[in-house]
This record gives sequence, structure tokens and C-alpha cells, in this order.
Amino acid sequence: MITSKNIGILLDLIKNSKKNIDLHLLVKKNSISFVSKNQSNFYIKKNTLEHKIKVSKFYESILKILIPILRNNKRLVIAQIGQSLDGRIALNNGNSHYINNPKSIIYLHCLRSISDAIIVGSNTIKKDNPLLTTRKIEGSNPKRIIIDGTLSLNNNYKIFNDGNENIIFTKSRKKVNLNNSTIIRLKEENFTKRLIIQLKKLKYKNILVEGGSKTISELINNQYIDILQLMIAPLLIGSGINSLNLKEISNLNKAIRPKYSFYQLENEIIVNLFLNS
Ligand SMILES: NC(=O)c1ccc[n+]([C@@H]2O[C@H](COP(=O)([O-])OP(=O)(O)OC[C@H]3O[C@@H](n4cnc5c(N)ncnc54)[C@H](OP(=O)(O)O)[C@@H]3O)[C@@H](O)[C@H]2O)c1
Repeated sequence: MITSKNIGILLDLIKNSKKNIDLHLLVKKNSISFVSKNQSNFYIKKNTLEHKIKVSKFYESILKILIPILRNNKRLVIAQIGQSLDGRIALNNGNSHYINNPKSIIYLHCLRSISDAIIVGSNTIKKDNPLLTTRKIEGSNPKRIIIDGTLSLNNNYKIFNDGNENIIFTKSRKKVNLNNSTIIRLKEENFTKRLIIQLKKLKYKNILVEGGSKTISELINNQYIDILQLMIAPLLIGSGINSLNLKEISNLNKAIRPKYSFYQLENEIIVNLFLNS
């Protein structure tokens, strides 16, 4: 069985395996290991999954979405947005709990667990006060990177009180003392371009940009995002914060029309838009 207890271990094994060979695994109740072909009950041939053990539809869908990402050799920056059908990620008052199906949080924690770093903007910290960990699945936690242009955050937020480290990028010269944090100050001029150069120097393989709208839009406008992943829940909010706010275009022939793939996860649709390929 694949459960929330072992999915993190399984994803880690796939992530750290050679990308160009078929994987044969023996999945038992309390352990998962690589074995020879004839002993295996769970295999990944290229990017397709086959198994002799029971895997629920939910975990099978998660694996189908994540295996192609894990089996990719390239560095990938994935921006993930949970939105309504009419493209909202929160109400105007900032409330966003919850747009997506509660089970989608397990998926989100799986996505975090395969990421080496996770980026969010300062408003997301202020509105949601998240921990950005993988606590629902017992997976590895990505390094947290926060973009706080004006250094407006303070030690009251959870990310500064759980003992895990943070990297804060800012253009502010203000002196602040944020627990467990390295503050990296960049010049205000061309801040986003400078930020991207610094992020590339950190050499993380998989980076997840989890929001909000301003952070993701600015990084898309600067061609930093490889995959934009929209997790679309079947509800209409009608007004609120848009998932994206990109550069205005004057003609539809200038619209971004990327390659895409889509999946169903419970009652939601996950669309991958491959922006840089
Ligand atoms: N549904 C979802 O998937 C999801 C996920 C995450 C967040 N949210 C929601 O999204 C809302 C927050 O989104 P948001 O768009 O208002 O804010 P945001 O993107 O979380 O944060 C924006 C702030 O981060 C800093 N920042 C980010 N990128 C920057 C850049 N390239 N250059 C300079 N500064 C940058 C700026 O800080 P300064 O203002 O200090 O300069 C900016 O004002 C919340 O309501 C949250 O609940 C939803």
C-alpha cells in the first residue's frame, strides 16, 4: 500500500535514482527498497508506473503527476497555484482557506518534498502564516526562501519559530533581526533580475514557487518559471485576488500558448504549462 506514511520515502527514492534506467522496487508495509526485476512489485518504466500492489486512485494520480518531474534531468522551477475556476487564489481580504480540496494539501506536501527550495512572497507569510513544511506526509522539508522587498516581516510568524532556516531576499537596507534567517540584500534597480541570478547561484535542482500572485507573476514576466502548475478547484469565487497578473498584451497573437499536460486529482484538474520549452 502507498500511504501518507511512505509516499515521502518513495518520492525520495525516485528523486535520487538514476534517471535513464527502469526502476524496480519492492514496496512493503514498512519499507521500500530497490530490488532486481523479478523480485519487484512496483516499477517505473521510463515515466510510466506499473505495480502489482494495491495503490489507491489518489496516490496513483499523485505519482503520475510527479514521476515525469522526478525523472527529469534538468533543473526545474515550478510555480504552483491553487485557484478557483474563475482564476482567484484568495478573497480581497486575503482569506484563501480553503479553495482546494483538503486532500490536495497532501499532494502539495508531496510536491514540496521533491523540491530543494520553496519560494514565497512576504504577503503570503502575512496572510497565511504558513510553515511550508511537508508535515502531512513525513517527507523532506525544502529550504525556505522568502522575498520581502521592504523587510516588513517580524519574528511573530511561524517560519521564524520552528527552528528551520530561512533565506530572505530584500532590497531594503533596514536593520532587522529575524530568527534562523540569512538576509541577502540586493540593489533595488532590476531587483528581480538580480534575484534570479542569485537563485541560480544557489544551484538547487528543483525549486517550487508557491505564491502569491505578485511573486509568481513577476518571476513569469522574467522567464524564470519552467512549469506553471494550476490546481483548479470546481468553484466560482467571483471576485478576489487573481492567480496571475502578467504584462499586458495588445494582440492575442502575443498570448503565451505553451505546451501543456493535464491530470485529474480527486475533483480537481491539475494543468502543467511548460513555459520554457
Ligand atoms: N491559492 C494559492 O495557491 C495561494 C498560494 C500562496 C498565496 N496565496 C494567497 O496569495 C495572497 C498573497 O499574494 P500577493 O500577490 O498579495 O503577495 P505575495 O506574492 O505573497 O507577496 C508579494 C510581496 O513579496 C515581495 N516580492 C515578491 N516578489 C518580488 C519581486 N520580484 N520583487 C520585489 N518584491 C517582491 C514584495 O514585498 P514588499 O511589498 O515588501 O516589497 C511583494 O509586495 C494571500 O492572500 C495568500 O493567501 C494563495
